[in-house]
Amino acid sequence: MRICVVGAGYVGLTTATALADFGHDVQCVDMEYAKIDSLTQGKVPIYEPGLQKLMNKNCKEGRLHFSSQVEESIKDYPIILIAVGTPSKEDGSSNLTFINQVVKIIVSTINEYKTIIIKSTVPPGTNERIHKTFVEMGIANDLFDIVANPEFLREGTALWDIYYPNKIVFGTKTNRPFKILKKLYKRQKTPFIFTSLTGAELIKYACNAFLATKISFANEMNRICDAYEVDYSDVAKGLATDPRIGRDYLNVGLGFGGSCLPKDLRSLKHSALKQKIGTKLLDAVMQVNDTQIEFYLNKLGTVLPDLVDKQITVWGVTYKPGTDDLRSSPAIALIEQLIQMGCRVHTYDPMVQLVLSDVSSYVNQYESVIGSDALIIATEWEQFKKCNWSEVKSRMKGSVVLDARNCIDGKNVSEHGLHYLGVGKR
Ligand code: UGA
Repeated sequence: MRICVVGAGYVGLTTATALADFGHDVQCVDMEYAKIDSLTQGKVPIYEPGLQKLMNKNCKEGRLHFSSQVEESIKDYPIILIAVGTPSKEDGSSNLTFINQVVKIIVSTINEYKTIIIKSTVPPGTNERIHKTFVEMGIANDLFDIVANPEFLREGTALWDIYYPNKIVFGTKTNRPFKILKKLYKRQKTPFIFTSLTGAELIKYACNAFLATKISFANEMNRICDAYEVDYSDVAKGLATDPRIGRDYLNVGLGFGGSCLPKDLRSLKHSALKQKIGTKLLDAVMQVNDTQIEFYLNKLGTVLPDLVDKQITVWGVTYKPGTDDLRSSPAIALIEQLIQMGCRVHTYDPMVQLVLSDVSSYVNQYESVIGSDALIIATEWEQFKKCNWSEVKSRMKGSVVLDARNCIDGKNVSEHGLHYLGVGKR
């Protein structure tokens, strides 16, 4: 099958590469010349494990191509898969400028049947509106089908998620595109969920909102465990063994970040309020998340009451391990807060050299702690779990290690003469 993927970000690039690997002929286009330039030279501009190798293989075998000629490509291909960004606007609603631009191009160039697949996360009603735009612009009904096909890819494990999805969701207005869709994803042995356009949009938001709810629930439980000197990991075990609950998304920490969960919650709230539906639960989920940094800083304050002029090292700046993405990273929010409180901040991250004023970024994790009063583990990268604590101890000025992801063996840290500080961890 011949597919034009519009958008070469995390989702577009991973999807385009996987579809090419499934044997399809894929053209991935983006309006950003620099991105396409890098891709045509064989360089993936983002970090996603396994992507570089798979992309090179499929380019070499002639199934995957890149272009910045968006209009020509859209005109040429019978299947258009849209994976452009839908960032948050100031009021929490989603900015649909990019998707509208693509729709405009399709409408103005369409002259033969096209299946238009929307992968971008869009508020309920968007796909219906896109369909209406085609009708209003006089595009004949037999020339197009709109399909809402949300993605459920996690950065860092996106290829795994695309090869072994737990579901594939298709929102359509008729069953006409089913044959094409089944052929497109014929490699995946997973249930297909067919629903309406708006149904598919809401499945996407519901999944992210539920995951966010689980995380905020875990963080609130962890605060309670901490107050009662109970080990949260025991409570998590109790939750995990109940098949109705499960262990996933109960890891505690500085809160959820990234380009999806926070944005989608705000957008869902915005869509609900437009229909005069209250969002008490979503509000509470966001409120717990928004107060996590403060909670951890208070915890730090119990051992370092005055943070003015203190030197703090933060390990991990991405919003989670396994990515180089800094969007809505709780670690960055923490760093900004520390600077505001008068601290000098050093950072180390395995993937990212942070460029932020008033922050000294290091390429070596042990050098980053030299002379520091405290070390905060903000993101649970594997290498932090295997850290040499005597190296850390010998370089630090102070001794506090705040494990803001409960990911370190506290006993091991303490045995090296450091003051281990976890939350809900005994
Ligand atoms: C999320 C969803 O998991 C994907 O299914 C979805 O497709 C994607 O958003 C999207 O909408 O595009 P992602 O943002 O890549 O994926 O990251 P997650 O692995 O879900 O983590 C989100 C945040 O939650 C991270 O900051 C992570 O540290 C935090 N988290 C996750 C926790 O604090 N605790 C956990 O137990 C799990």
